[in-house]
Amino acid sequence: LDNGLMRTPPMGWLAWERFRCDIDCDNDPQNCINEVLFRDMADRLAEDGWRELGYVYVNIDDCWSSKTRDAKGRLQPDPKRFPGGIAKLARYVHDRGLKLGIYGDMGTYTCAGYPGTTLDTIETDAQTFAEWGIDMLKLDGCFSNSSVQEQGYPLMSKALNATDRPIGYSCSWPCYQGGLPPKVNYTILGEICNLWRNYGDIEDSWDSVLSIVDWFTDHQDIIQPAAGPGHWNDPDMLIIGDYGLSMDQSRSQMALWAIMAAPLFMSSDLRTINSGARAILQNKAAIAINQDPLGIQGRRLIKEKSGIDVFWRPLSNQASALVFFSRRTDMPYRYHTSLKALNYTKGTYMVYDVFSQKVQPMLKDTTDFVVSINPTGVVMWYVFPAQTVEAAFHA
Ligand code: DGJ
Repeated sequence: LDNGLMRTPPMGWLAWERFRCDIDCDNDPQNCINEVLFRDMADRLAEDGWRELGYVYVNIDDCWSSKTRDAKGRLQPDPKRFPGGIAKLARYVHDRGLKLGIYGDMGTYTCAGYPGTTLDTIETDAQTFAEWGIDMLKLDGCFSNSSVQEQGYPLMSKALNATDRPIGYSCSWPCYQGGLPPKVNYTILGEICNLWRNYGDIEDSWDSVLSIVDWFTDHQDIIQPAAGPGHWNDPDMLIIGDYGLSMDQSRSQMALWAIMAAPLFMSSDLRTINSGARAILQNKAAIAINQDPLGIQGRRLIKEKSGIDVFWRPLSNQASALVFFSRRTDMPYRYHTSLKALNYTKGTYMVYDVFSQKVQPMLKDTTDFVVSINPTGVVMWYVFPAQTVEAAFHA
């Protein structure tokens, strides 16, 4: 969507995977969906170094609203859990240099049973969000059908555009239509949405991450060309820092999401996140690869019988990223290859190892090398042709 927003994949925090629809603030005040949770996350993003790295969205998901619309037919937050209202929360978030995202559903109810947006309330809801100072809308697709979605998603895009506020637009539409043509038209999606969920919900497990990665790579010929500045495929939230992933698996999710040019929405408790998970999420090279201005999504180049997959993403200034990913579950695997075998032909390269944070000795495309990849882990490389590195020094 050409609204000037999200020229690189959006980054921030989204409540759903970690906090779901916990509305029991009386008994579980620390984890329930209320304004305190979003203020807390805004504080963490602003004070713990996240904002400077690009993590600027604080996004509300399902279960924020009241069970009914107000007397004028407008959506309204649950009065007990959001006593200050959404506009006040938006000011709090904006005062910290951050942006506020909200959630709606193109259908009669949200997935958790709160009021949805029907065709006749699209304009009212877009207007309400804009008046509150909302910066991004995730529009889910429960309790609707393909015809309502086909009309509703483009109409909401228009309605958001008609407000005087720039609002990033995340569409769950394709995910409700199986994610593939002919039911899903990625040309239309690119014109009306800034990002879209292609596939099912992430859960807090390695199995879940793997099934998402497999779906995206199995269908990469369709999915990969759909992405670009202002319009991104969304494989769903980062679960790094939660309960389901080991450190190696956390690095794998970060590396693969970076290679896929995926939106980086963390869904973990930033108040208590451990330093290992934080270091992975704050890895500057991985973020730079994700945020590369060319905005070309990466692809799987090689799927070895040994269980090693190699992913590649072209980056600006002739740089590129490689991810060596092991699906094995036995022990670190010593993978033998060369840059030439991975289609590199420009002679000598400088290689920066993203997670060990070390520059490797200069590497010729014809030289065989070995990388040791941990089970369910990755080795990620940021690769520059030596010529461009030298040219930068002479400039
Ligand atoms: C389904 C979406 O795919 C999830 O990300 C989340 O928004 C839930 N609905 C909320 O009910």
